[in-house]
Amino acid sequence: MNSALPAPAALAASGLVKRYGELVALAGVDVAIRAGESVAVMGASGSGKTTLLHCLAAVLAPDAGSVRLWVPGGAPLELVGMSEDERSAVRRTHLGFVFQDHLLLPELTALENAALPLLLLGHPRGSAEAHAQAWLAALGLAGMEDRRIGQLSGGQAQRVAIARAQVTGAPIVFADEPTGSLDSTTSSEVLVALLRATTGQGRSLVVVTHDPDVAARCDRVLHMRDGRIVGESLREAAPQFAEGAR
Ligand SMILES: Nc1ncnc2c1ncn2[C@@H]1O[C@H](COP(=O)(O)OP(=O)(O)OP(=O)(O)O)[C@@H](O)[C@H]1O
Ligand SMILES: [Mg+2]
Repeated sequence: MNSALPAPAALAASGLVKRYGELVALAGVDVAIRAGESVAVMGASGSGKTTLLHCLAAVLAPDAGSVRLWVPGGAPLELVGMSEDERSAVRRTHLGFVFQDHLLLPELTALENAALPLLLLGHPRGSAEAHAQAWLAALGLAGMEDRRIGQLSGGQAQRVAIARAQVTGAPIVFADEPTGSLDSTTSSEVLVALLRATTGQGRSLVVVTHDPDVAARCDRVLHMRDGRIVGESLREAAPQFAEGAR
């Protein structure tokens, strides 16, 4: 383990099973995500990574198992067994998402995209946009607020997606191949921005990736095969954003 004191769990799943007809996409997965840690999920195409991410993030309802989410100041929420509406409320309130493509709305500006989760929670437009603007600036996008998504580079658009995943202050952010369509330099910049915005702020990040460079920067890597976690590796280096780190 990296630290002497284990951080509290932010999310814990046990016995997760998900079938698509005859196909068993998750065959009994146990996993806990601690507060403030970054976890990469790797594995061959079809091994169940996206399905796992979606079950952890209350996007999909598993067929069996439990997913508990610890929310600030409350008892843990059991996500399995919730209705679609309840899951959607949990996602909007407590979770953030960064996906590879088609997450951002092309007809909206960078600022409108980033502010959207707060508007959906009922925040007034002025404060939602002020908050979104601060996140865009923190991610190096000051001056680009009024551009539509098509007027941004891939890496810039992905940073808008990161801003959008952070504005509500969600304690856990999920990302599915967030750097998959980017060149290696841009990918590295986006990942650093994503880690700063999540673990750098004490939040947890769960990131599905095929990229070993992305996985190498996470605290822990889970390896999946045929719907199971078949291995786990820990990063040995010091945490990237710790005070006094080289
Ligand atoms: N909606 C669906 N209906 C039927 N089968 C599905 C569905 N979604 C996923 N599957 C199947 O479930 C298995 C796991 O898919 P999943 O998308 O989780 O894999 P993955 O590890 O994310 O793969 P990739 O790296 O290609 O994104 C695959 O065999 C896939 O074909
Ligand atoms: Mg996938």
